[in-house]
Amino acid sequence: MADRYLRLTGTAPGRFLTRRLGLPQPAPLRRWSAEHPSLDGPVLRLAAGEAAPAGTQPYAAVVLDATGIADPAGLRAVHTSLHPLIRRIAPCGRVVVLGARPGDGDVQQAAAQQALEGFVRSLGKEIGRGGTVQLVRLAPGAAADSTLGFLLSPKSAYVSGQVIEVGPAAGEQPDGDRRRTALVTGAARGIGAAVAATLARDGAHVVCLDVPRAGEALGELAARLGGTALPLDITAPDAGERIGAALAEAGGGLDVLVHNAGITRDRRFANLDADRWDAVLEVNLASVLRTTEHLLEAGVLNDHGRIVATASIAGIAGNAGQTNYAASKAGIIGFVRALAADPALRERGITVNAVAPGFIETGMTAAVPLFIREAGRRMNSLGQGGQPVDVAEAVAWLASAASGGISGQVVRVCGQSLLGA
Ligand SMILES: NC(=O)c1ccc[n+]([C@@H]2O[C@H](COP(=O)([O-])OP(=O)(O)OC[C@H]3O[C@@H](n4cnc5c(N)ncnc54)[C@H](O)[C@@H]3O)[C@@H](O)[C@H]2O)c1
Repeated sequence: MADRYLRLTGTAPGRFLTRRLGLPQPAPLRRWSAEHPSLDGPVLRLAAGEAAPAGTQPYAAVVLDATGIADPAGLRAVHTSLHPLIRRIAPCGRVVVLGARPGDGDVQQAAAQQALEGFVRSLGKEIGRGGTVQLVRLAPGAAADSTLGFLLSPKSAYVSGQVIEVGPAAGEQPDGDRRRTALVTGAARGIGAAVAATLARDGAHVVCLDVPRAGEALGELAARLGGTALPLDITAPDAGERIGAALAEAGGGLDVLVHNAGITRDRRFANLDADRWDAVLEVNLASVLRTTEHLLEAGVLNDHGRIVATASIAGIAGNAGQTNYAASKAGIIGFVRALAADPALRERGITVNAVAPGFIETGMTAAVPLFIREAGRRMNSLGQGGQPVDVAEAVAWLASAASGGISGQVVRVCGQSLLGA
C-alpha cells in the first residue's frame, strides 16, 4: 500500500509545502540492499564519561558503553559523552547504549541502569531524520555481536526505542556450515513472504506454509526461493504431524520456526460474536502453542533451534475494536516468555522470541479505514509505516545461529510507536 504523504515529502515542493504548514516530515529510511549493506559513515564506540572526539565529523552510529554506571551520579557520564555528539549523528543514524541489567547490582545500580531506559526512549523521540536509539542490556558473559550487527546496519531501519536483553549463549554453537531449514507460516504474502525471502537470502532452505487457497502465490514464492511449498491450514488438528512429515521429506529437522500466520476479525467487544473471537484466538494463538508443542515433543526442532513468534503492539497497548486480536497477541508474549524460561529448551540452546510489529504496510493494514490508517502510519517517532521487510530483518536476526544469547525477548518493529510502552 503506497504512503502518498511520504512520497510527497520526498519531493522539494512537498517538503516546502509541509514545512510551511507545520506538518510532519518523515525521513525516507535507508534499508538494507546487497549493493548498500552498511550504514553511511563511521561508527564511534566510546565508554560513558569518555570525551567525544573534537571536530564536526558526522557519525553513522554511536555506541555508548554505559554498563559500568553504578549509581545516579554516574549518569552524568552519559551527558558528558553523548551531548557533544548528538548533532553529529548522520541521517538514518544510530545511537546504541549498552547497559547492564538493573538488579545485577545493588539498589543504586538498579536505579541508574533503569534510568537509561527513560533516556533512550526519550532520545528516540527527539533524534529525528530517520535516526534510531536503543538500549542493549548485557547480562554477565553476554556477547552483543549479533545484536550490534543488526542494530548498526540498515536492517534495523524501523526498530527504535527498544530495550533488548542479551544473555550468554547456551551450549555449543551449531555447525556453521550446515544449511539450516526454516518454516514460515502465513508465507504466501505480506510479512510472511518477506520473512521467507529474507531467511532464504541468509542461506536457509525455507518451507513456506499457508492455507491451501493461497496455493498459487505460495508455490510461486517457494519456487523463487528454492524452498518448499506446504499448503496447510495451521489450525488443522494434525498440522504438527503434517509439518513433521513434510520436513522429513525435505531431509530432516527444523532449525527455525517462524509463527507468522495471523488474522483479524475486528469488532468492538459489544458487537463481537463468539465465532470471530474463536477464529482469531485459534489462528493467532492456540495453533501456535499446539504446533510448537508437537514439533518439540516429536524432536523435529533441532538443538540450537530458533522459535520466533509474531505478536503486535495491539497485544501490548490494546486497541479498540481488537479485543480478540489483542488478547491473542498478548497471549503470544506470555507463551514466548514462559517457553524461553523452560530449562529443557535452554539446555538445548533453543531460543524463543517474539517480534511485535507496529503499523506495517501490508494487505492487513490496507483494509483499515483511511483515517485510522493515516493515524496509524504517523503515530510513531519515524512518522511512517514500516515495510514487511523491516519485520523480516528482525526475525532473521533473532533466527540467526549467532543469536543464541537472545531469548524471551519481545522486540517491537514499530518505529517507536506512541502506542504502548
Ligand atoms: N501488518 C501489520 O501492520 C501487522 C501489525 C502487527 C502484527 N502483524 C502480524 O504479522 C503477521 C502477518 O501479518 P500480515 O500483515 O502480513 O498479514 P496478511 O493478512 O497480509 O498475511 C497473513 C498470511 O497468513 C495466512 N494465514 C491466515 N490464516 C492462516 C491459517 N489458518 N493457516 C495458515 N496460514 C494462514 C494468510 O493466508 C496470509 O497469507 C500476523 O500475525 C499479524 O497479526 C501485522
